[in-house]
Amino acid sequence: MLNPAQPAPIDQAAIPQRRLYTGATMPGLGLGTFGSDHVSAAEIAEVVKDAAAAGYRHFDCASVYANEAQIGVAFEEIFQRGIKRDDLWITSKLWNDKHGEDDVIASCRKSLADLRLDHLDLYLVHWPFPNFHPPGCDVSSRSPDAKPYIHENFMRTWRKMEALVDMGVVRHIGVSNMTIPKLKLLLRDARIKPAVNEMELHPHFQQPELFRFVLDNGMQPIGYCPVGSPHRPERDRTSEDTSPTEDGVIVSIAERHGIHPAVVCIKWAAQRGQTPIPFSVHHYRTNHEGVVSDPLTDEEMRAIAAIDRNCRLIKGQVFLWKEGQTWEDLWDVNGEITPP
Ligand SMILES: NC(=O)c1ccc[n+]([C@@H]2O[C@H](COP(=O)([O-])OP(=O)(O)OC[C@H]3O[C@@H](n4cnc5c(N)ncnc54)[C@H](OP(=O)(O)O)[C@@H]3O)[C@@H](O)[C@H]2O)c1
Repeated sequence: MLNPAQPAPIDQAAIPQRRLYTGATMPGLGLGTFGSDHVSAAEIAEVVKDAAAAGYRHFDCASVYANEAQIGVAFEEIFQRGIKRDDLWITSKLWNDKHGEDDVIASCRKSLADLRLDHLDLYLVHWPFPNFHPPGCDVSSRSPDAKPYIHENFMRTWRKMEALVDMGVVRHIGVSNMTIPKLKLLLRDARIKPAVNEMELHPHFQQPELFRFVLDNGMQPIGYCPVGSPHRPERDRTSEDTSPTEDGVIVSIAERHGIHPAVVCIKWAAQRGQTPIPFSVHHYRTNHEGVVSDPLTDEEMRAIAAIDRNCRLIKGQVFLWKEGQTWEDLWDVNGEITPP
């Protein structure tokens, strides 16, 4: 039963739905569950429960967020309150130290057990690099046996991802933090093609080429850090970073609509055609309402398209594999996979 003091949940029919190449549909707004090293697992599990009551049907989880066990208890309560498993879209992700052939299936089973589920709607390879970093580490942290992207190795991991689909415990598999050259190889060699690429997307980092490539190749873009991750960990901050919610164009559109600039970013994302997964402890209801009401005009969408600054916030320095590299080496900026 809903608390009568709470506002009515959002009409599901109003939420954009993204059609995957399998024919399945994924709710076009999700709730992020990474507490950025400062929001507790218990607090996030509470938000998941309340967000489901408010109408969220898509949850972006990952083993490395170290809160799947608490979120699993929340899911159990959500189902006890009458929401059906098939009504939810639940994603989890394989962490970077579990790319080994013997680790993929065991890791997925651990996430399923923690989340108290018998299947996932989507299981992602979290990063293309098999390089571990400890939770809460700083930007200079490096895995002692860090490796570059080696396609043959990635395919060995992918074969096990495919096996999870064959086993029926995962409905879709996908990737995250991939580049066009890496995706081209994966599309060439995959038996089961990735359904999505989860990637950083906000008005200051629109990645138009990769965004188009993903859609043109029958995948869906899921956009992380949709409001520019204002409370991201220290290791993910540099002096060159900009903040989309402080951009004059976003601020003036927000003023015109009488909403927070963060909600403008979420409206833009949903209207552009990606699936934003904002994390929020305090504003998740507002964000949900934002995608179903008072759309941005074509002119506002064009104005936001013009403020891209190619400003990547999650640079991934901790995944670099040798001395003397810069974070750009992780992202194949010259159009080719950076040589080992
Ligand atoms: N695949 C990957 O490698 C990857 C990488 C990074 C993130 N992710 C996923 O993407 C999710 C989102 O990314 P993120 O959490 O880094 O960044 P984000 O969603 O851009 O930013 C979250 C922050 O924005 C604030 N916020 C959200 N809506 C707001 C609003 N309407 N008004 C004011 N403030 C608002 C939240 O504050 P309050 O809590 O106070 O509301 C929260 O601190 C993560 O939780 C995770 O699930 C995936």
